[in-house]
Amino acid sequence: MSAKLHHNTPTIFVIFGATGDLTRRKLIPSLFALFRGGFLPHTFRIVGFAHSEHNDAEFAHMMREVLVTHYGTSDALQAEITQFVEMISYQQGGFEDAEAYQMLAEKTIALEKTIGQCTNKLFYLAVPPMHYEVLLRNLAHSGMTIPCNDAVGWTRVLVEKPFGDDLETAQELDALLGNLFHEEQIFRIDHYLAKETIQNILTFRFANTIFEPVWSNKYIDRIEMVLAESLDVGTRGNFYEGIGALRDVGQNHMLQTIALLMMDHPGTLDAAAIRRERAAVLTRLQPMPHFLDHVVRGQYDGYRETPGVAPASETETFFHLRAMVDNARWRGVPITLTSGKALDAKETVVRVFFKKAPSFADTIEGYTMHTHRNIVTFRIQPQEGIDMTFFAKRPGLVGDMAPRAFGFDYRETENVTEPDAYEKVLFDCIRGDQTLFASTEEVLATWRFVTPILTQWKDVPLVSYAKGSSVDAIVE
Ligand code: BG6
Repeated sequence: MSAKLHHNTPTIFVIFGATGDLTRRKLIPSLFALFRGGFLPHTFRIVGFAHSEHNDAEFAHMMREVLVTHYGTSDALQAEITQFVEMISYQQGGFEDAEAYQMLAEKTIALEKTIGQCTNKLFYLAVPPMHYEVLLRNLAHSGMTIPCNDAVGWTRVLVEKPFGDDLETAQELDALLGNLFHEEQIFRIDHYLAKETIQNILTFRFANTIFEPVWSNKYIDRIEMVLAESLDVGTRGNFYEGIGALRDVGQNHMLQTIALLMMDHPGTLDAAAIRRERAAVLTRLQPMPHFLDHVVRGQYDGYRETPGVAPASETETFFHLRAMVDNARWRGVPITLTSGKALDAKETVVRVFFKKAPSFADTIEGYTMHTHRNIVTFRIQPQEGIDMTFFAKRPGLVGDMAPRAFGFDYRETENVTEPDAYEKVLFDCIRGDQTLFASTEEVLATWRFVTPILTQWKDVPLVSYAKGSSVDAIVE
């Protein structure tokens, strides 16, 4: 990260769902990393809110264990962990228990008294979406979302995906959030947007003059994105069942990536301009004509035995479909989106295939006939980098060509550890930078694209695949 935090108003960070998996795996480790790097406001407090009974000390102790498991037990770290957990307290309560929110409000007021001034408040909803409505209403009634005054003390809400499970439910959630908060207070998280390699798509496109002039249907033939995971659904059956791969990673992570790849130049690099251009692309997204002829829905063998999954489940754990952006710049360029769980490898890549170069082989004596194309590959993870294939003459008396590559590999080139995407999410939210968060227009546009597909493809038979299959084997 290049800039330390300039906004130093004391801040209280409330985590709803504080004993859950996300808090342990991501939030606490990321907050600690920000703390160590000096990226948190000088005065910072974390208040956990969840159903189970704990007092402040017990909860702080649990979070200490989380950090020890995550970062180890070196002496240097121990002191910092001790300092960090001193900032943590806890409020027990059910999400539907209005009284518990009053107690939480009193707790924040007490903290403000000790701090000696009005604070910013950030509310993180690390809870299953079925709790959003009651939680947001109770939160609003508690009065905590009202800033102390106009000058200091902003309040913001961080919402995890999924934002609804179709267009209608997304609109309902949006209306609810819109009633309680202004758009500039709402931070809808898509952790893909916060990945270094995804952010770099913008830099690659707009900081290099050589790509933008050829970035259209005039020169680009097709675009493919693959988000392959080797892990299966594991213990997340209750969440995943009925949701499926398209909703889980397609509607959000993949479409947001495509939006960055295909959006127009935003003019300036401010959040509103970038979000506007991403939304503009997403609004023009459509399935390719006759997409049902090419769609593949799959389910890995054994998925139906996962706890929480129906014995005759029709939920897809794999999908492959073709879309296009119907505007002058992109009309006619197929976008293939493929994702699945329990595949042979974990790898996310985006490949941009250029049109075939006109062959000069038949005009120059001695050249072997080649039809070739350039390919730009964004390796999002795990081997982060960007490659570009081009063709070069092979040394020799007869002219022959061979594919060669320019490559940029993060690990070889950058001598820094990439921050976890959640560090970036939390850092930007505290700074108030919404660039890497999905706007209401973007979310609704992605659901407008996905919802009719979900309705239409129900009748497409599910292909079963063995765990560890390759994408090619399933799509064949
Ligand atoms: C989450 C999905 O949003 O993204 C998971 O719910 C998926 O099912 C994950 O595994 C993929 O994220 P990453 O960062 O591991 O590619």
